[in-house]
Amino acid sequence: MTVLVTGARGKVARAVLDRLHAAGLPVRAASARPADLSVPAGVDTAELVLGRPETFPAALDGVRQVFLYPEPAGIDAFTEAARAAGVEHVVLLSSSSVLASGAETDPLGSHNLGVERALAASGLACTFLRPDAFATNAFAWAHPIGRGLPVELAYPEASLAPIHPEDIADVAVEALTGTALRGHAIALTGAQALTFREQLAVLSEVLDRRITVETISRTKAEEQMSRFMPAPLIGSLLAFWAEASVCPATIADTTETLLGTPARTFRQWAVENASAFAAPGK
Ligand SMILES: NC(=O)c1ccc[n+]([C@@H]2O[C@H](COP(=O)([O-])OP(=O)(O)OC[C@H]3O[C@@H](n4cnc5c(N)ncnc54)[C@H](OP(=O)(O)O)[C@@H]3O)[C@@H](O)[C@H]2O)c1
Repeated sequence: MTVLVTGARGKVARAVLDRLHAAGLPVRAASARPADLSVPAGVDTAELVLGRPETFPAALDGVRQVFLYPEPAGIDAFTEAARAAGVEHVVLLSSSSVLASGAETDPLGSHNLGVERALAASGLACTFLRPDAFATNAFAWAHPIGRGLPVELAYPEASLAPIHPEDIADVAVEALTGTALRGHAIALTGAQALTFREQLAVLSEVLDRRITVETISRTKAEEQMSRFMPAPLIGSLLAFWAEASVCPATIADTTETLLGTPARTFRQWAVENASAFAAPGK
């Protein structure tokens, strides 16, 4: 009854893996680079690349459930191999981007939608987790904050309900170990709507440092983001933030509504990750 956790170098996957292992369930950590994994003793590892079907048999051997990071390349071959191996249920880390109008053509939305549709057509039981923005996106501000530079944003008033990655892991584990969430598509957020400016104010308080916010043009933001992101994703994210500046974030399901435990706050995430925002060398 092994659970295969894919993308095991990722934060959410690692938290899922640790919880399942601590609960005594047999778990296998799958990664594109298994040699880079450091997993708890007793956890099996496997190479898994969705674009390389030859990696499927060993990764899926004896597996009954999968926690899956979305990757459209090779997804049909993967679901076929999963069914043949006896997999019964897949919990997908999808995204709220599939719910946006225009998701079919949007690069972010269509990426996740393609995987959801392939899974739905596969005949496997599925649970789709559709989180909104991760609290971890704030790591993008570590560089300017650490150096005392202004945080430059095209849409500082974009309102999001950032979710702590451990909350996503809690819900994923519930979906893998219980029956209540199985078969559902769940939109997930943190419990509080916060604009980027408000998130930075929380960070400023937690770090006890003054953080300045500078509003920049969309063109300048595009130019900055193009250094580390493909162009279609930049357009998609900027359009999302522009819309979030005029429509405050709605709170969807949270760990409170699904599991009865309060959602972790952005402040808690900031406290746990304060060291990432330190000045270089500190
Ligand atoms: N960020 C958001 O706001 C947001 C919102 C909704 C949904 N999502 C979805 O959540 C998923 C993960 O998002 P994330 O931003 O938090 O990414 P992440 O968990 O840090 O990493 C994603 C995957 O990338 C691979 N990877 C490649 N190089 C890595 C490295 N150096 N360190 C760690 N992992 C590495 C890992 O898979 P291998 O171990 O197999 O290489 C890992 O599972 C994406 O599918 C995204 O669409 C994100």
